[in-house]
Amino acid sequence: MKNSYFKYVVCCFLLIGFSCKNEMKTSKEAQIEQKVDALLKLMTLEEKIGQMSQIRHFEEDADVHITTKFIGSVIHTQGPNPGKTALGWQKRFTELQHKALSTRLGIPLLFAVDAVHGQNTFEGATIFPHNIGLGATQNAELVKQIAAITALESQATGFNWVFAPCIAIPFNEKWGRVYEAFSESTELTEKLTKAAVNGYQGALSEATTVMATAKHFIGDGATDFGIEGGETSLNSEQIQERLLAPYKIAVKENIGAVMASFNTVTGISMHAHKALITDTLKVGMNFDGIVVSDWKGYSRFGKNDIINAGIDVVMAVDGDLEGFQEGVKAGIQDQTVKIARIDDAVKRILRQKFRLGLFENPFPDASLISEIGSKAHRDIARQAVRESLVLLKNEKNVLPLSKEIKKIVVVGEHANSSGLQSGGWTVNWQGTKENYKGASTILDGIKKQSKGEVVYDKDATQKHFDADVAIIVIGEIPYAEFFGDIGHESNQLKLTVTEAHQKYIKTYQEKGIKTVVVLVSGRPLVVTNQIEKSDAFIAAWLLGSEGEGVAEVLFGDFNFSGTLPHSWPKGVKDYQSKYGPNFWDQSKEPLFKFGYGLTY
Ligand code: BGC
Repeated sequence: MKNSYFKYVVCCFLLIGFSCKNEMKTSKEAQIEQKVDALLKLMTLEEKIGQMSQIRHFEEDADVHITTKFIGSVIHTQGPNPGKTALGWQKRFTELQHKALSTRLGIPLLFAVDAVHGQNTFEGATIFPHNIGLGATQNAELVKQIAAITALESQATGFNWVFAPCIAIPFNEKWGRVYEAFSESTELTEKLTKAAVNGYQGALSEATTVMATAKHFIGDGATDFGIEGGETSLNSEQIQERLLAPYKIAVKENIGAVMASFNTVTGISMHAHKALITDTLKVGMNFDGIVVSDWKGYSRFGKNDIINAGIDVVMAVDGDLEGFQEGVKAGIQDQTVKIARIDDAVKRILRQKFRLGLFENPFPDASLISEIGSKAHRDIARQAVRESLVLLKNEKNVLPLSKEIKKIVVVGEHANSSGLQSGGWTVNWQGTKENYKGASTILDGIKKQSKGEVVYDKDATQKHFDADVAIIVIGEIPYAEFFGDIGHESNQLKLTVTEAHQKYIKTYQEKGIKTVVVLVSGRPLVVTNQIEKSDAFIAAWLLGSEGEGVAEVLFGDFNFSGTLPHSWPKGVKDYQSKYGPNFWDQSKEPLFKFGYGLTY
């Protein structure tokens, strides 16, 4: 009796607390809506269109445009850095923010960055495994921590908005952006999307969190034959079933923005797809945040059609600003664009600026700078590397390696380059082949773990045939976006590993040396023969700055726990039709199924 009375009292308190919290939330939201409406009433058409415009900080007249064209946001991808140090970046963005605040209405700027695996545009930041590796960890708590660190390091370099996470569901491994997505599994993507959005945004208004962007809406990874920006020929049920679910989660978790994708859906450009952007996302899912265009979306995908379809912020970069601003104005004048549409777009932008607390705290916090690339952050990245490794083969228990092994030869340029191990979107858009600041390589980790002799043979020409074990690191060179599409004219990429890399394995394997192969790649590749020839085979994805994490598992300080986020192909012919050996297409039996992964 006593017990149930006690429970009743606790419940009442909890309920009161809960409803108070909800009421506080609603009243805060109601106040924001009032402020948005009041501010909107004061705005001229030019000021409204300005809020919808996004420019780069180094473009000609950027500073002037912020005040004369009432720019709403600034984007940083690559190109001239805003300074040599994080303080330099903060100073530059503070300077631009002051300009925005000096305008008639003083509306603060949003600063956006492609921080897709850490604040990867700043050399010295912590770089995490790309999303495909995080998919292999299946660890939502870890993904949340990673997103929170990325948010903090982004804030520390002056940003309050990230263009992440990519929540695509890749259907064909030929697509050059497979690694930007968590998994081919909708369920796993949903789980990690929730974690990522919470990690990036927190309560949205803290000094260490940022606004996140779910991208790219929709069908980016499900184009026929995996062509970036190609045609997605799925029907609405298929889109609903496989692709929309992660967006529903993102919206439920209050994601601030969604980016439109380059592809068409059944012949209609996604940027101009009113049924999907407005009816499905904004109205159907109750999304009250910002829909941002992708690169030069206005001039590339239908000008005012994209505004009418529901795009709110336009990446008006590379000479697009004038055309966009004048084009929308002309649309209002000839009534092909309704002012109500512009008002809706501006309300969404202002709403997020209020939610982020930008009107009270528009400037970056210099005290965060010391946390960029900190040991605590790198420890989490190293944990992510360890948990992302998937053991595909371990014959005769060659692994874990004993630390007492007399001589180990480490083969392959990927073993000795933090750039190569990190993939695209690392320091530069297309990545780097060089070592970069603060990072450790796979070779560094092996040297640290082993108590014996470790020699390095870059291209298997050094004939260290007296070695007891060869650790051979092979893989893809960095790429981003269409540059990574297999079959694209811009590259020679294949679904298989290069002949040179095949030879690395053959050279040591033919001498009877135990071979442990580590594959660094942004997607599963056709390596059936190489798996056969090696004693142990590990999929290491694109691991980022903490290469040392690999050896910590190879030498048994930690066990393997990663599982395949994609089904693994058997042969090149698996790719002759629209999709790869995706688990949806049961007609192709993969070499390893989604979820496969051995342990010690
Ligand atoms: C990519 C986006 C990215 C944008 C800004 C585009 O080309 O598709 O993912 O956020 O550029 O850099």
